[in-house]
Amino acid sequence: MALTILGIETSCDETAAGVVEDGKVLRSNIISSQAELHSRYGGVVPEVASRQHVRDLTPVLEQAVESCGLGLEDVDVVAVTYGPGLAGSLITGLNAAKAISYALGKPLIGVNHLEAHIYASWLTPANPAEDPGFPLACLVASGGHTDLLLMEGHGDYRLVGRTRDDAAGEAFDKAARILGLGFPGGPEIQRVSSGASGDYSLPRAWMRDTHDFSFSGLKTALLHQAQDRGVYLADSEETPTDEATTALVRELASAFQESVVDVISAKLVDMARKYRVKGLVLGGGVIANARLREEILRRSPLPVIIPPPILCTDNGAMVAACAYYQHLRGEQWPMDLDVDPGLPLG
Ligand code: KG4
Ligand code: ZN
Repeated sequence: MALTILGIETSCDETAAGVVEDGKVLRSNIISSQAELHSRYGGVVPEVASRQHVRDLTPVLEQAVESCGLGLEDVDVVAVTYGPGLAGSLITGLNAAKAISYALGKPLIGVNHLEAHIYASWLTPANPAEDPGFPLACLVASGGHTDLLLMEGHGDYRLVGRTRDDAAGEAFDKAARILGLGFPGGPEIQRVSSGASGDYSLPRAWMRDTHDFSFSGLKTALLHQAQDRGVYLADSEETPTDEATTALVRELASAFQESVVDVISAKLVDMARKYRVKGLVLGGGVIANARLREEILRRSPLPVIIPPPILCTDNGAMVAACAYYQHLRGEQWPMDLDVDPGLPLG
């Protein structure tokens, strides 16, 4: 009989729940995004996020089980993200998971959000553990992290590179703000970049021969370009919408995107070579970026597993997929499990 896991995710601004069988078969994936709610502030407001999770969680959970013809009692294991993320947001998901687990007598599993992003790749037709097999080079690029990890087995990670300042997603969000675009910034930058001439260029921070990243200098370079060309006006609320400015925004957005894509794909492929891995596994919201996906596929001499965009951004199904392997390892989590906003991986 298949093992049915309910995965709950509330670490940031998505209230999400998904049902996965045997860590592989995606039965449901319900996501309620708060992006619109936070867009007027240009970023996620923690207090607003946790209150909205409380409102959305019950309907999201109901939909996740009912849409695959199940009831909560049919779930075998309850899995939940307990870190890293915003404390107040994490608590809402963790408390719901504990309540379901306790009421129905089902085991509880605490999941690391970064590890869950990696396991989104197990929800694709591939099984990375078998084909291409371990070791794998993993890139998690999200709003809070840009991590390069060596994965030598299920649950076995070594952090070999990370950002020293802004995360890639955070950089996309800040760049979009500078260019007068909406939140979240990543999809906006991608949208307006299409059709750019590619004549503009912004610097890359190579961080010498480390596998680390830095994106804050790029953001400052973009800010200076935007200021010099009248795109970013400190005293004005609105970026001008005339044709010339729109064209400039397109060129600057594209130059920014190309800089991030170049550095990330170069460092990932370099790390894969150095550690003699068998393949690449990508996860996190920034991996939804079409140019980044395209460029990594183009440059990698090894197989690359990339989840579809909907499984790259935060979701509950990836939490359930990850928990399956934790369950196989015999993990049991206590009812006094607490959130860990700074939880590392590797
Ligand atoms: O993994 P995620 O959904 O949440 C966190 O764990 O942080 O990642 C969110 C981040 C945001 O910064 C967002 O701008 C970025 O992922 N993102 C993108 C794209 N879609 C989402 N960045 C670049 N291109 C995209 N298409
Ligand atoms: Zn995430």
